[in-house]
Amino acid sequence: MKFNNITKAKNWDGLVVIPFELKKEGIQLPEPWKNQILPKTLFSGKKDSQFILSLPKSTLLLLGCGENPTYDSIKTSYRRITAKNSHLVEKDLHLVFPENWTDDLKEAALLGLQIGTYNLGHYKQKKEHEKDWSKTVVTILSDSKNAKVLLDRATKIAAAQLEAMKLVDLPSNEVTPEYLGKWAQKAGKASGFSVKVLDRKAAEKEKLHAFLAVAQGSHREPQFIIMQYKPKKSTKHLGLVGKGVTFDTGGLNLKTQGMVHMKCDMGGAATVLATMQLIAELKIPVQVTAIVPCVENSVDNQAFLPSDVIQSYSGKTIEIIDTDAEGRLILADALAYMTKNYAPDSIIDFATLTGSSLMTFGSEYAALFTKDNKLSDLIQNQGRIINEKSWALPLDDAYAKEIDSDIADIKNFHGKPYAGAITAAKFLEAFTDKHSSWAHLDIAGMAFGDSEFAKTKHATAFGVHLMLKLMENL
Ligand code: BES
Ligand code: ZN
Ligand code: ZN
Repeated sequence: MKFNNITKAKNWDGLVVIPFELKKEGIQLPEPWKNQILPKTLFSGKKDSQFILSLPKSTLLLLGCGENPTYDSIKTSYRRITAKNSHLVEKDLHLVFPENWTDDLKEAALLGLQIGTYNLGHYKQKKEHEKDWSKTVVTILSDSKNAKVLLDRATKIAAAQLEAMKLVDLPSNEVTPEYLGKWAQKAGKASGFSVKVLDRKAAEKEKLHAFLAVAQGSHREPQFIIMQYKPKKSTKHLGLVGKGVTFDTGGLNLKTQGMVHMKCDMGGAATVLATMQLIAELKIPVQVTAIVPCVENSVDNQAFLPSDVIQSYSGKTIEIIDTDAEGRLILADALAYMTKNYAPDSIIDFATLTGSSLMTFGSEYAALFTKDNKLSDLIQNQGRIINEKSWALPLDDAYAKEIDSDIADIKNFHGKPYAGAITAAKFLEAFTDKHSSWAHLDIAGMAFGDSEFAKTKHATAFGVHLMLKLMENL
């Protein structure tokens, strides 16, 4: 897609997209179609409605935005244009923005339009249904002085989200830990952050025992990815951690349900990797250290066993009750490594950690755990604006006894069918060295799910935009 930004259209050939809020008395088209009659029985601006008017040289696509358009509703309306109405776009696409629209709504439209170009058919031989968007010229008609800045920002957010989506949607025989390691190296060079990747041998040297215990049942080389973004000026230092299980078979406690979806178990990793790209591209003035532990949780004769007691980077010993509770093990080492070696002001981890969070919240809210009330408010408030919502659950110490072990310092699962997301969060907390500003987001229901844009579950890029908004408001 090529974008132009002008205040007055030279011509209107092609597709013209005009959004309307709900008007009871019927709507009036802007210039130069002011004299077109549009009965309100046909189009009133009702939310999620569309009306297509075919004129000699241009096609008008009227978008119904309802009474109070939100960031998310506008993003979805514009995503539909490129995802579902691509046949209406030949070469030129004109965007008319209403005068009363805030910059946020314009950003949402520009973002949705670009996200809608995503095509899930990564491995299809025949590309006939795939549109070549590189030929499309998008003209934005806006008097807004900072339209250029808006467009640049929306384009960079879209690029990062599209990367995150692709990383999650590609299967585990493509997106291996090594694939993610290479992705980080490449993105670091292109966008401007440093990357260090520890393989199995280097991780052994660093004593990342819990991370390696999960990796030992797979022939895939594990990768412990460490990234650092250091802008010239920064007041805050943020630590990000993302769960990178490229496939979760459950290990010897083999999954009996839903295994087919477990390519999404590196959703937290994708969020953190894409966030690094985005903040470096936008030159955000916050220092960020990110750790993404990547493994495949599989089964062979080397695999770790239920009842094994393993060591960890922190020094704490862990009794393995269930090999399917593997995410918390690799995160334990990543969190301990972060607090010991980098000591950021705040740490946020993203992980597709428990079925329990999915059962609790479905795909509306991520489960948020933190004892830092300010950070909690910030994550929830910023998330609400862009529909990347989270809801706080307790990190109450009363739950800690559930994961006490007789044989070791802690066990990785309490073995009970309740409080799964909370006990998992308490397990992670034990490896944060009592950091006063740590937040955990369990995104098992958020990273991957159903939507109107595909037949199967697919990636959402949850968290990428949220982390940008958080850093802009730290
Ligand atoms: N990767 C799963 C959690 C998950 C479930 C992610 C559904 C995405 C969608 C995690 O590693 C897991 O297996 N959790 C178990 C833990 C249990 C065995 C202690 C769970 O939640 O059932
Ligand atoms: Zn698991
Ligand atoms: Zn998992």
